[in-house]
Amino acid sequence: MEVEKKAPGGREAGAGKENTGGKKQHGAPQKLPQPKESSIKHTVAVMSGKGGVGKSTVTALVAAQLAKKLKSVGILDADITGPSIPKLFGIKEQPVSLPMGIVPPKSRLGIRIMSLNLLLPHEDDPVVWRGPLIASAVKQFWTDVIWGDLDYLVVDLPPGTGDAPLTVLQSLPLDGLIVVSSPQELAVMVVKKAIKMAEMLNVPILGLIENMSYLTCPRCGEKIELFGPSRAGKIAEEKGIKFLGSLPIDPQLAELGDKGEIEKYQAELLGDIEKTLEPLN
Ligand SMILES: Nc1ncnc2c1ncn2[C@@H]1O[C@H](COP(=O)(O)OP(=O)(O)OP(=O)(O)O)[C@@H](O)[C@H]1O
Ligand SMILES: [Mg+2]
Ligand SMILES: [Zn+2]
Repeated sequence: MEVEKKAPGGREAGAGKENTGGKKQHGAPQKLPQPKESSIKHTVAVMSGKGGVGKSTVTALVAAQLAKKLKSVGILDADITGPSIPKLFGIKEQPVSLPMGIVPPKSRLGIRIMSLNLLLPHEDDPVVWRGPLIASAVKQFWTDVIWGDLDYLVVDLPPGTGDAPLTVLQSLPLDGLIVVSSPQELAVMVVKKAIKMAEMLNVPILGLIENMSYLTCPRCGEKIELFGPSRAGKIAEEKGIKFLGSLPIDPQLAELGDKGEIEKYQAELLGDIEKTLEPLN
């Protein structure tokens, strides 16, 4: 398994010092250059302060929505210890290791997917790595994967502000972040935390999505706010962030995700996705 062999900080340590890779820099000097054999137009990461709010689901829906608009799309799974992304897309195929780099497998819609879980001998093997190795793997998923020409690379982050999110925010030339919250968490605090981290690292926030906002009664169509009234719109306004909308709790979404068929989910829930993902500066 390629990824494990390289020492943390090994050959990428000096990367990005003077090389801007032709990508727009948001004030941070140490971004990685464009990966080999690849040209990635837009890179967006999906973040939240709390686990289980639906980052991976939102990552998958955003990627699928773009792919349905015939964009070339990739997903970089930076949640090194979690199997969510391959599972949502039903992918078991191993990435192919060539001398020039790693070729990621494709989903049904042609989304190129790179996830550590695809490199494990058994998909239920746990990944018990320390921070520096995780950071190194995340960088290699950018540097050593042959992404090809992508319109969008969507990065799925693990929850919180640990090593993987920090590495992604510091090292990848991100256009911005999509922040996911849900009404049952301490949304205000979490969003403030996310904003603070993004500000500290000079990464713009493209918008806020509230997931699991409500449930529609299958009998009468009534909107049930299971976790109380939505606060995300108000928070976004207060913080000067775009509110991208709410996703309902939808048993069909969970079911398709469990079956590895998330791409079948019919949702234009995120509005004009390309407009949403336009860089802010
Ligand atoms: N809108 C929704 N309706 C129904 N189920 C959902 C919805 N959003 C997410 N889920 C389900 O909730 C679970 C958690 O979602 P997901 O894995 O996307 O969260 P996450 O924020 O990526 O979690 P983690 O922090 O562990 O990475 C999954 O089983 C998913 O199918
Ligand atoms: Mg996840
Ligand atoms: Zn009802």
